Amino acid sequence: MEKINVGVVGVGFIGVAHIEALRRLNNVEVTAIMDQDDEIEKKAGQLGVDKWFSDYGKLLQDSDIDSVHICTPNYLHYEMTKEALLAGKHVVCEKPLTTNVSESEELVELAEKKGVINAVNFNIRFYPLMHELNAAIQKGEMGEIYSVHGSYLQDWLFHATDYNWRLEKALSGDSRAVADIGSHWMDLTEFVTGLQITEVFADFATFHKIRKKPLKPVETYAGKLLKPEDYKDIPIDTEDFASILFRFENGARGSLTVSQVFAGRKNRITLEVAGSKKSAAWNSESPNEIWFGNRDTSNESLLRDPSIMHPESRDIVSFPGGHNEGFPDTMKQHFSKIYARIGDRNLPENYPTFKAGLREIILCDKIIESQKQEKWIKI
Ligand SMILES: NC(=O)c1ccc[n+]([C@@H]2O[C@H](COP(=O)([O-])OP(=O)(O)OC[C@H]3O[C@@H](n4cnc5c(N)ncnc54)[C@H](O)[C@@H]3O)[C@@H](O)[C@H]2O)c1
Repeated sequence: MEKINVGVVGVGFIGVAHIEALRRLNNVEVTAIMDQDDEIEKKAGQLGVDKWFSDYGKLLQDSDIDSVHICTPNYLHYEMTKEALLAGKHVVCEKPLTTNVSESEELVELAEKKGVINAVNFNIRFYPLMHELNAAIQKGEMGEIYSVHGSYLQDWLFHATDYNWRLEKALSGDSRAVADIGSHWMDLTEFVTGLQITEVFADFATFHKIRKKPLKPVETYAGKLLKPEDYKDIPIDTEDFASILFRFENGARGSLTVSQVFAGRKNRITLEVAGSKKSAAWNSESPNEIWFGNRDTSNESLLRDPSIMHPESRDIVSFPGGHNEGFPDTMKQHFSKIYARIGDRNLPENYPTFKAGLREIILCDKIIESQKQEKWIKI
């Protein structure tokens, strides 16, 4: 079988996870990596990738490379994606697609014009039980949806000494917690319920108004390794926390709490859906189990098991019940759909494309507007 050759750009926390997920697919070869890191050659050796570039333009000129994964800090996504599209490559970009609406609109248009496969890595949808809940809702098993609420909580920015490029607007964008993790929850919620958010009302808070920036760069989640004397004071103007109210197209109501300073919650997404027939609850730290609540009979708990799931969600389960799947598997399942479609354009576009990326940028934009104006904003 002829393999699809991939270049992964930015090999920090998530770039390396992309490489691992891609290597689990039988129709893909990770051919090259690119990073600005001085140690890129060493990293290529550690990752077992033969070709490495420190010049992005050179990677794009390499005609062997069919597809590019953009895993760099947010402010680089627009330019890097645009250049890759102009070079005729398929592009999988990390979220957020860009840091503003007009740039995302431009990329959606350009990708369509170029006719290449395009995707944004909203991988949380690819927890099998999230496809299962979507199937249950689409088949009417939950009834009419009344409300959706949940949270996305982390603690890796809990201390004032925790620092990352995401804390700087110029590198991350105007919103931090909402754009970085709230966007995953909103993508998940619209995907699972099949309902669009129509109005938002947001309240942000920045608890660490001054943080201590390390004097040398660190990769995501690696800040715990530095010593206190390695820092300098920096004022912070992006949110640690947000609470957001939602109205959905069918009249359903919703709410979300996002926080990057919630001690003990490492990376926890919760989603609870109330329907007219039953309710459901799931959280990403126990992703292989979903709870269904009933009014007149016993409640139910479904352990992820392909043999008892809907065919629509069985499709993204690779292991039998009891053999747990987690975060790395979400990306394997996501990428397998993308690369299957690169091989056969007749397959459905059943993964988040640049349009889903644009949708999240629009939602974040309206949430920031609501926070500033202290009122409901229509999408
Ligand atoms: N889908 C998810 O679950 C998920 C999880 C984490 C991060 N992300 C997204 O992935 C992106 C990267 O985040 P991360 O946590 O991996 O960050 P990171 O800081 O760990 O890694 C970023 C990498 O990009 C490299 N880089 C920086 N500037 C560059 C340039 N000009 N050219 C080439 N390489 C450059 C850095 O050297 C580093 O290796 C962000 O957009 C983030 O939102 C998504």
